Amino acid sequence: MKLGFIGTGKITASVVTGICRSNLSFNKIILSPRSKSVSQKLKKKFRKISIAKNNQEIINSCNWIFLAVTPIVGQKIIKNLKFKSSHTIISFISTMTLPQLKKAIKVKAKILRAIPLPPISLKKGPVPIFPPNKKVKNFFDKIGTTVEISNEKLSKNFWSTSGMMAPFYELLSTMSNWLVKRGVKREKAQKYITSLFVALSEDAVVNSKKDLKYLVKESQTPRGLNEQGVKELRKAGFYRSTEKTLNSILKRLNKV
Ligand SMILES: NC(=O)c1ccc[n+]([C@@H]2O[C@H](COP(=O)([O-])OP(=O)(O)OC[C@H]3O[C@@H](n4cnc5c(N)ncnc54)[C@H](OP(=O)(O)O)[C@@H]3O)[C@@H](O)[C@H]2O)c1
Repeated sequence: MKLGFIGTGKITASVVTGICRSNLSFNKIILSPRSKSVSQKLKKKFRKISIAKNNQEIINSCNWIFLAVTPIVGQKIIKNLKFKSSHTIISFISTMTLPQLKKAIKVKAKILRAIPLPPISLKKGPVPIFPPNKKVKNFFDKIGTTVEISNEKLSKNFWSTSGMMAPFYELLSTMSNWLVKRGVKREKAQKYITSLFVALSEDAVVNSKKDLKYLVKESQTPRGLNEQGVKELRKAGFYRSTEKTLNSILKRLNKV
């Protein structure tokens, strides 16, 4: 199987790194020349990677094509590319809907949308795909956790939650800075905070079949520090504002 990537930016670099670190079997990965610095770096780092002269060359020589350009570039270039009905085309483009992709691609190929996130480079993290597809699910399950979605409208909700990565890191950064201000060395502060949140996340995954409220309750002792933490943050509107922000990201996505 030959995998082609049109658009070699942040998300392609993460997905290609995940693929090359996995036991997925493939013959070749062909990257678009843009961005030159990212594609050259990936080619140097991993075997089986080559860089095409142009986007059409990728389509002509690959079975699976990943579309990883920004929406504006996608609207401009996809309609001018010639696909075959034997292709599987997986779009990472945030705001191009399936009907828009079908119209631009023209031939009756297998077309899907997927939302990988940067930790895919570590073979971790969720990958919502729409519509469901067994082969594509098996592929992403080797480099993350595939979540099949049967209704395109639902996928917008997942796009909204993916806007919470930077707020999450901001929380880690705030807590680390707080420790540093109190005299802890930055390296130690960051080691402590990051390993605390890794442990909590792993515990949450183990318990992810239960309602997550269970962990909120289990981690509090009556009149303990965690009870104080969650109560004060609730009172301050911390969680309500998280929900409000998700709503406003969704509103923006619904306008596109
Ligand atoms: N970053 C994420 O976490 C993430 C997650 C899921 C989905 N996505 C989606 O994936 C898409 C790409 O996101 P990104 O963060 O990877 O953006 P990015 O870093 O800006 O990458 C886009 C790449 O497209 C290249 N490009 C521009 N015009 C091109 C053309 N005509 N042909 C081929 N390549 C061209 C750019 O190259 P130059 O630098 O040379 O202009 C750039 O390297 C977006 O639609 C985004 O919504 C991103």
